[in-house]
Amino acid sequence: MQIIRYGIMGTAKIATRFVSAVRDSEGGEVVALASREEGKALQRAKELGISRVYGSYEALLEDPEVDVIYVPSINAMHYSHAKMALEKGKAVLCEKPMTLSARETAELFHLAEHRGVFLMEAQKCVFLPVTQAVKELVGRGTLGTVRHLEYNIAIPHVGFQWFYEKKAGGGLLQGNGTYLLSHAMELLEEEMEDGQALATLGDTGVDLQCTLQFRTASGVLIRGFMTTLTEGNSYMRITGDQGMVEIPDFWKAREAKVQLRGKESDTLSFPVDHEMVYEVNHVNACLRQGKAKSEVMSPERSMRIAEIVETLITSFSPE
Ligand SMILES: NC(=O)c1ccc[n+]([C@@H]2O[C@H](COP(=O)([O-])OP(=O)(O)OC[C@H]3O[C@@H](n4cnc5c(N)ncnc54)[C@H](OP(=O)(O)O)[C@@H]3O)[C@@H](O)[C@H]2O)c1
Repeated sequence: MQIIRYGIMGTAKIATRFVSAVRDSEGGEVVALASREEGKALQRAKELGISRVYGSYEALLEDPEVDVIYVPSINAMHYSHAKMALEKGKAVLCEKPMTLSARETAELFHLAEHRGVFLMEAQKCVFLPVTQAVKELVGRGTLGTVRHLEYNIAIPHVGFQWFYEKKAGGGLLQGNGTYLLSHAMELLEEEMEDGQALATLGDTGVDLQCTLQFRTASGVLIRGFMTTLTEGNSYMRITGDQGMVEIPDFWKAREAKVQLRGKESDTLSFPVDHEMVYEVNHVNACLRQGKAKSEVMSPERSMRIAEIVETLITSFSPE
């Protein structure tokens, strides 16, 4: 089996989980890590057990033994970092949100297409077996006609500074709204209208609390609530006229509770150590097959998400 060799651009916190997932994946290996500061790179690579270290992102991109670059920088830098990598002919797995605008996201996909290299937005929730199992139930009509989806995300007291900086791409809609959108799109495979949002903005102008509503082409209603301001349960629920499924922590879920009309409830269970492993397996498989895009987390889907998020953010935070 061809080993897919990952290089990580930056010392982000999320890299810890990503490296564990790659190590658990089928034929994936993290071979190098770079930081804008060599000292940081050395320290992080030691923590993560990565042998090749670079003191600049540019140097990482010159490494011929790196097949794919993982971009986990702050949201506002995804565009320029992914672009640098694509221009060097490297495949890219870019953390969500892919960029902060529809134009930038489209530009990256055009560049990837032009260079014939793989580019995908990292939306791990789409690849989870729980998501796929629920999608299958929906497809088989087990829930009857699906009528609505409900999402609740509570992440009280976000501890990292750039979340509160608008220029850095902070705020809930950029951070977590894209999980909700990619998840709903995967479950329903339907066109979604632009939707509406209301937000509670913090002093720095980012959305600390947000309600969202959408309608799909067939009339399914989708409602979301996200908050950093209070405690609460995080879950999604999909309801049809014959039953309902609830997925706690849907973006990293191992379980779903199925309640069909007139039947005992049932639990779907998919235990796993590192939930990012499924998206990594998908990237590994795409690269082995020489694909330049994912058919699951497709360019069209990422571009639509970027359009929706941009429209909604502009609606509640115009400048
Ligand atoms: N999929 C998931 O489960 C998941 C979970 C959490 C976060 N995320 C995403 O992962 C990304 C990273 O999140 P995180 O919380 O891990 O971030 P973080 O710890 O704050 O790290 C961000 C990294 O960005 C790099 N960076 C590059 N240019 C920068 C600049 N101009 N200013 C500041 N930092 C810069 C830094 O690396 P160097 O200084 O070493 O160069 C830094 O370590 C975000 O896009 C987030 O949305 C995904």
